[in-house]
Amino acid sequence: MNLTHILKFARFYQLYQWLVGAHKYQHLFNHEYICYQSDEKVLDIGCGPADILNILPPSVDYTGIDISEDYIQKARQTWPDKTFIQGDIADSKFPVEDNSFDTVFFIGVQHHLPDEVVSEMLRFAYRKLKKGGRMLSLEPVYTEKQGILERFIMRSDRGKFIRTADEYQKLTKRVFSDNRYEIIRGTMNIPFTIMITEAEK
Ligand SMILES: C[S@@+](CC[C@H](N)C(=O)[O-])C[C@H]1O[C@@H](n2cnc3c(N)ncnc32)[C@H](O)[C@@H]1O
Repeated sequence: MNLTHILKFARFYQLYQWLVGAHKYQHLFNHEYICYQSDEKVLDIGCGPADILNILPPSVDYTGIDISEDYIQKARQTWPDKTFIQGDIADSKFPVEDNSFDTVFFIGVQHHLPDEVVSEMLRFAYRKLKKGGRMLSLEPVYTEKQGILERFIMRSDRGKFIRTADEYQKLTKRVFSDNRYEIIRGTMNIPFTIMITEAEK
């Protein structure tokens, strides 16, 4: 059994995330991008065990979607008052109302998926957002400045579709023509660069 298989279990995934310092970028994403306001509805696509709920305010009106039964089961156990839906976003009809969310976000999801599935997910996000609602995504990104160790870590990632900023942009623009992004280094315990994209419906 290799690391990819082990990380399919929610507990091991959470331990790994803690070791690499994922909570650091989660704090940044929450405080500087999600900026939750009371009464807003948020949708987390590819929510995993929903560790972002450790950081969001307890009163958050939150729905999480994920394909993994183990991650969703762990999320439901930990956060029984939140809504979780298990299924493949690419081919399921989710019982989630259109035009109903203030913020839809992806944390570390798009780099696991090929272009056509990312496009499908972005279209799904667009449909679920209220007019004026925001789409946010946080993904690892390749840049020219990365050293050998960082490149090695990124190539060893479970997600086999880490992209450059231009490649992510091209995909996002197909659905959210007006968007902006920031590239941020040093947000984890390991050398890793992330890109945060923000767009409005
Ligand atoms: C690296 S994990 C990120 C989990 C979580 N957002 C976090 O920050 O810890 C990527 C997640 O995307 C989910 N995922 C991948 N493909 C999916 C799909 N087609 N539909 C729904 N979820 C998917 C995986 O099950 C996994 O939980």
